[in-house]
Amino acid sequence: MPLNHIRQERLAWLGWKDIAPMRELLASLPSPQNTTYSLNNTVQIDALQVSDSDKDTIRHCALTLRPWRKGPFELFGTFIDTEWQSFIKYNLLEPYFNLEGKVVGDIGCNNGYYLFRMLSQKPKKLVGFDPSALYKTQFDFINHFIKSDIVYEMLGVEHLPLYEHKFDTLFCLGVLYHRSDPIQTLKALYQGLNPEGELILDTFMIDGETPVALCPAKTYSKIPNVYFVPTIPALINWLERAKFRDIEVLEIKKTDANEQRKTEWIYGESLEQFLDPNNPELTIEGFPAPKRVYIKAKR
Ligand SMILES: C[S@@+](CC[C@H](N)C(=O)[O-])C[C@H]1O[C@@H](n2cnc3c(N)ncnc32)[C@H](O)[C@@H]1O
Repeated sequence: MPLNHIRQERLAWLGWKDIAPMRELLASLPSPQNTTYSLNNTVQIDALQVSDSDKDTIRHCALTLRPWRKGPFELFGTFIDTEWQSFIKYNLLEPYFNLEGKVVGDIGCNNGYYLFRMLSQKPKKLVGFDPSALYKTQFDFINHFIKSDIVYEMLGVEHLPLYEHKFDTLFCLGVLYHRSDPIQTLKALYQGLNPEGELILDTFMIDGETPVALCPAKTYSKIPNVYFVPTIPALINWLERAKFRDIEVLEIKKTDANEQRKTEWIYGESLEQFLDPNNPELTIEGFPAPKRVYIKAKR
């Protein structure tokens, strides 16, 4: 199907019955004068003068757009304390990339938290891919105030080979384990890159020297759509099969309760409930607890 048809189909998702009321709130958001923003650990937006009634409208909209997974954000005094302290991942990776003047894609960008942070490196163009209508709505909410020219596409990693242009740097963070076809996914990322382009990727991993992957029957850490959790040698084999070269392991990090935790901005449970209460080294299913590997590779 041509990309424009897919785009049109997906934009229609914004009319779904749970999303439509959120879009209506967005359409009536105030636009405070002289807005400023800072792109530090918290993406913070403020203005010299905002009425209490406008602050209330913005807070109400933020609450309606729950659950908020990635962030945090602060808008005119409303602190969106997201489930993930996403600056931990961003700050870990930032020393390994330079986006100045580059065409950059964040594939699986969620609400765009990393894309907003990347603005400070002055890339030539920033594009986010994420099929979720809720996360696109959260992005539009934040960007209503920041007014960046980030392009948000409700597309998936699988659409990269069809995309109108290639990228100098692609990020694909926390997506690979959600794909039932990880090598095909890596091939799509490869095809999305310019010659000499680079990929920055993270995925769940298990320890081990043998090139094997954990394949949960139903859930991993209570997450239903996790298909493969590889050892690093298995991940390197996948990357090599997708033709990547110069593969570097940047970091390895266990997820802890500082990085992912229950807040009032999500519904339901978080990491603490996903681990074995008697042994935090294991998930509730008895698998090794979530650990991620961060990789850089060249096309
Ligand atoms: C675990 S979150 C990771 C978010 C963010 N990249 C991070 O690392 O914090 C996975 C994201 O992938 C998105 N996603 C789902 N299907 C996708 C697809 N086919 N292609 C790209 N992203 C997808 C989800 O909507 C979600 O925002």
